[in-house]
Amino acid sequence: MRNKIQSYINEIQSLKSEALQNKIADIEQFRIKFLGKKGVISELFGQFKDVPNEQKKEIGQLLNQLKVAAQTKIEELRSSVAETISDDSGNCDLTMPTDFSELGSRHVLSVVQNEIIEIFSRIGFTVSEAPEIEDDWHVFSALNFPPEHPARDMQDTFFVEKEGQHGDVVLRTHTSSVQVREMERSKPPIRIIAPGRVFRNEAISARAHCIFHQVEGLYIDKNVSFADLKQALLYFAKEMFGPDTRIRLRPSYFPFTEPSAEMDISCNICGGKGCNICKHTGWLEILGCGMVDPNVLEASGIDSNVYSGFAFGMGVERMAMLKYQIRDLRLYFENDLRFLKQFDTLI
Ligand code: PHE
Repeated sequence: MRNKIQSYINEIQSLKSEALQNKIADIEQFRIKFLGKKGVISELFGQFKDVPNEQKKEIGQLLNQLKVAAQTKIEELRSSVAETISDDSGNCDLTMPTDFSELGSRHVLSVVQNEIIEIFSRIGFTVSEAPEIEDDWHVFSALNFPPEHPARDMQDTFFVEKEGQHGDVVLRTHTSSVQVREMERSKPPIRIIAPGRVFRNEAISARAHCIFHQVEGLYIDKNVSFADLKQALLYFAKEMFGPDTRIRLRPSYFPFTEPSAEMDISCNICGGKGCNICKHTGWLEILGCGMVDPNVLEASGIDSNVYSGFAFGMGVERMAMLKYQIRDLRLYFENDLRFLKQFDTLI
């Protein structure tokens, strides 16, 4: 009997040290083994009735100590798991609810530029690009600007200093320079759309900026006529501003097109009745265009007796202003999230 009691005490003590040094990684397995209904502790309590009365107090205390040790160990294991979940060590709890991180959105100018490209790509135009830092030839001379033309003035154009020489390297003032690059590198038929940044020496205000974006279009082939230009632009206006949009062309002047025109669309705010946006005229000016001047074709090595073409150029900022009623150009470049987020849903 004595031996039996002694081995009972030994077992309690060895289980207590086992609980304290626990080697079982799975908390639930540990709980079942020690504190479960059929676990070792409940089995030991079951044998307690055989303990002689004079030892009941001492052994009862030992049993309770074992139970407390197992319970404390479980608490310890649980809180250490909670800590690993909240640190960044790569152990994560896959059942935790997701914390959504905010995604960025496209800038409204990119959205509008992509829309213009998309509309023209549906009628066979492909995107063409050329440098922002250009020479006088591609920005002015090849486009039929006479040497004394005021656009070449320091007041309008940013000049880039090159090896101490002034005058020949400029930041392009329009994307018409891409027309020249394209005519130099490929043979007709040419059907391109050229989006890009342009630079002008302007004071920054609500209506002007020294950096802005244009999209240029150029189509050269045999027998291209002014009617083709009108049809392409009418299609564009309807796709961009809605099927009820009307267009009108007003005679204008650009050195590189002849004849030249400016195109207006019927005001998309008042439908042509007259409002603040269209200054009560019912019309909004949206782009410049014309038939490519034969001098321009010849300057880039294209036979103007065989080929003809049309060109047009529009401002992306202006297009976005008209489409989304943006009143101040400076908003585009300030990157104020309150402004940018309004266009979140435009893809
Ligand atoms: N390059 C002209 C501008 O910047 C626009 C234009 C392009 C006009 C092509 C006619 C043809 O204003």
